[in-house]
Amino acid sequence: MGISMSEKQKDSGFENPSEKEMLSLIDRNALPKHVAIIMDGNGRWAEHRRLPRIAGHRKGMESVRKTVTLCRELGIKVLTLYAFSKENWGRPKNEVNALMRLLEVYLQKEIATMMKNNIRFTIIGDTELLPHRIQQRLQSVIKKTANNTGLILNIALSYGGRAEILNAVKKLFQDISAGRFSIEGIDEVTFERYLNTAGIPEPDLIIRTSGEMRISNFLLWQSAYSELYFTETLWPDFKRKAMLAALIEYQKRERRFGLIKNKDRSDYGL
Ligand code: FPP
Repeated sequence: MGISMSEKQKDSGFENPSEKEMLSLIDRNALPKHVAIIMDGNGRWAEHRRLPRIAGHRKGMESVRKTVTLCRELGIKVLTLYAFSKENWGRPKNEVNALMRLLEVYLQKEIATMMKNNIRFTIIGDTELLPHRIQQRLQSVIKKTANNTGLILNIALSYGGRAEILNAVKKLFQDISAGRFSIEGIDEVTFERYLNTAGIPEPDLIIRTSGEMRISNFLLWQSAYSELYFTETLWPDFKRKAMLAALIEYQKRERRFGLIKNKDRSDYGL
């Protein structure tokens, strides 16, 4: 009697591969330079367990730590995490306060690990809207880790893509008015220098958890050619194997940047 494909796959562990098997599928030379993640589903994770929403955020912090560790181990250059959007200010005060507290504790606890692991910490967003104490702590961690040369851990806080583009336009306009630039001299490369992400490569891969299929005002300019990966997994359940699955899927995609198959961007001088 023939064995069905799914049974065969089950027998070989194909349906639920081990972390080691997943790692063996990853081409270390073709990893994304920059992975950006919309960490969604903390609230639902907590609701499913009849817990307060903040319990989901707290559990989500474990996923943050695991993801940072894995990216560092793999040698990924930049990891951007969407921790707090501009729209999130509209959430109940106690949830906003609890998220700020989680961030503060994270910075306190992780600074030693960041130094040990050569991680450089950066932020994007309108962070002047954050409580003063948090701003000070953020600046202190940014300064302390500034000379680290390993993974860049970039956290989006009070971030909105449209606001970022608008701020860039305003700053550029000031420079044009002051005669530092001519309108004709402005191109995409110049414009990028006015974004919060100046100096950081654009994200090759954007992951969103929890089954929602939206970009939600995240890295609007920078995501022009990003590969998008959506998973049903809620952020607190997003562990090493979930991240590896995203990377394996990314490596199956063919990135063309609007060009023709098997051509490299450099073939076109890009
Ligand atoms: C989305 O879930 C998640 C957030 C709005 C916050 C994510 C923040 C953390 C995990 C902490 C971040 C801190 C650091 C240092 C990175 P949701 O509440 O929108 O979930 P729901 O859609 O199920 O309600």
